[in-house]
Amino acid sequence: MTLPALKGASTLPSDAIVAQDISFAYGSVPVLSGVTFQIKEGEFVGIIGPNGGGKTTLFKLILGFLKATSGTLKVLGKDPWEAHRDIAYVPQRLPFDKLFPISALDVVLTGRLATLPWYGAHSSEDKRLAWEALELVNLKEFAKAPFGALSGGQAQRVLIARAVVSQPKLLLLDEPTSSVDPEAQTEIYSLLQMLRGDMTVVMVTHDLQTVIERVERILCVQGTAMDLKPGEVCEHFALGLYHRPLLTPLGSASKKEKE
Ligand SMILES: Nc1ncnc2c1ncn2[C@@H]1O[C@H](COP(=O)(O)OP(=O)(O)O)[C@@H](O)[C@H]1O
Ligand SMILES: [Mg+2]
Repeated sequence: MTLPALKGASTLPSDAIVAQDISFAYGSVPVLSGVTFQIKEGEFVGIIGPNGGGKTTLFKLILGFLKATSGTLKVLGKDPWEAHRDIAYVPQRLPFDKLFPISALDVVLTGRLATLPWYGAHSSEDKRLAWEALELVNLKEFAKAPFGALSGGQAQRVLIARAVVSQPKLLLLDEPTSSVDPEAQTEIYSLLQMLRGDMTVVMVTHDLQTVIERVERILCVQGTAMDLKPGEVCEHFALGLYHRPLLTPLGSASKKEKE
């Protein structure tokens, strides 16, 4: 029997990512330092910041592809590499040559590679899940279409289907809307909003206005990481992107500006 108090506690969301004072350098070139933040399970968080600020590097640390030089990073309660099966990643650049003859459905099925048996055939369950993922992104009728023939927005949605077909607990997207038209952008955001709750969604983006409207929390990554609420982004970013006061502790910059 579970005690009521314990039952209540167990329904609280746990941490999807906990970063404590992490630093990272490529050789002798420091990229991130003193990065501390927490993301709860089920949150939808946007990551913004200037080019070269270290956003993609932070994702590679979360995925366990790179190891922090110092500090501790826990992903889904584990060391990053141990959590990688529960993480799906939609990279900044297409992982497929658009001329390579592969259908949209086949692209989605590559998201099930980790579950393939030694003889390499996808099970009927894999195929069912791939169709379901295509339905989720509203592209079922394009299942057999060549991936290279799809529009930028459709291709991006196929890649999101490929990510979710592995049934991840954490979905990381690196600028998923950078090469799509505004209509496709809106569709992608709606899709991500639908997924949040089922999984934690963390997305790097440059669409400030849209991100302010859609996410619950924003991290600005610029050598370090700063936690912002969408409203604070309006205040800081409306007149000049990623300007210097961002490097000061939250609140003190805006106070100074008002004086
Ligand atoms: N593999 C690498 N080797 C050396 N330097 C790198 C490598 N990848 C990225 N960098 C450098 O690290 C910094 C942060 O890059 P990145 O994480 O890609 O930033 P962002 O995604 O915010 O644009 C940049 O100065 C970039 O040139
Ligand atoms: Mg990047």
